[in-house]
Amino acid sequence: MSTTNGDKEIQKKNFIDPNCESGTFLSVFFNYKHKNLKNKIDFKEYVKDIVGVDINPIAVLMAKANVLISGLKKCNSNLNDKYEIPVYLADSLYVPNLIKITLPKKLVLMSKFIDIINEIEKYIIKLDDKGALKVFEKCYKPIKTNKKLKNTIKENIINLIQFETKKLNSIWLKIFSNYFRMASYTKFDYIISNPAWVQWSVLPEIYRNNIKANMRMDGLFSSDKNVGGNNLNICALIANKCCERWLSNQGAFCFLMPKSILFNKSFEGFRNLQINKNKRLYFNEIIDFSYINTGEIFEGVGLDFCAYKISKKSLKNKDILPVISYIKNANKNLYNS
Ligand SMILES: C[S@@+](CC[C@H](N)C(=O)[O-])C[C@H]1O[C@@H](n2cnc3c(N)ncnc32)[C@H](O)[C@@H]1O
Repeated sequence: MSTTNGDKEIQKKNFIDPNCESGTFLSVFFNYKHKNLKNKIDFKEYVKDIVGVDINPIAVLMAKANVLISGLKKCNSNLNDKYEIPVYLADSLYVPNLIKITLPKKLVLMSKFIDIINEIEKYIIKLDDKGALKVFEKCYKPIKTNKKLKNTIKENIINLIQFETKKLNSIWLKIFSNYFRMASYTKFDYIISNPAWVQWSVLPEIYRNNIKANMRMDGLFSSDKNVGGNNLNICALIANKCCERWLSNQGAFCFLMPKSILFNKSFEGFRNLQINKNKRLYFNEIIDFSYINTGEIFEGVGLDFCAYKISKKSLKNKDILPVISYIKNANKNLYNS
């Protein structure tokens, strides 16, 4: 939470954990953002502006359950209302290019968007294009009157039905509704995570090829072609792409990542902190958890870790970067700087 730098306007800020797993960091955001809460608030207000993303459906389910549990004591809810927990099943690196679906932004932004998609899915499974169109028209009136829009929606339905007939499973509609939802968030004030740490070389080949085909990677890998010099850890790729996609101009990013990022050749490209071809980011602070007395912060992993705080603003003195070493307090089991 040092990333927020005592932000006085924290209530108005939005957060994302792009690799949220079961939502440990999300719980921290909720507690932090609502720490001064005197009265119960509506659940919608509670979850507003705190978003989780994970590629693993089980992780998403666990995170949603944890968000719900954490909100129970602090929130009121209306039994007749439907609530969306903003934890989405998506890849925070890229949007898969499996099928083309185009939807009006206003429809995607509707609070009942996920319910609408669930309703449409029932007709897709029955291969009922007319039924699916009726649901679209009922939920978003302009589809009825705007010929171009209607044709686009019809095309979507045909694509989805084709997908279903090929037995490629209607789950894709649910997955894409998550991607659409994510697309409605443009920028975040705080991007904070303990991301996945997997070496590029051990990722499935098909996934690596998809990533390469779908995103700009230039400059991210090391120019060193020797063995080991080019084996980027996926956490650096996720860090770079999340900043490119979501970091607001005044915002801050902080990921827990291996300490080797600071000196390993494989991270040479990442350390340039270049985004969008010609823009750059700056390291603002590094919190080093590898001090001799600290012990491993992730037991059994065998790696040293640092928290890297990055933003679009450079420090006043560009030649000095604050590095804070955390030392375990022997008596209290707490960390002191
Ligand atoms: C170390 S765990 C995250 C822990 C979590 N931040 C917490 O606070 O408990 C890494 C998570 O990243 C997810 N993940 C890996 N690659 C991803 C991607 N490309 N997009 C989204 N999530 C991803 C994994 O499914 C896993 O749940």
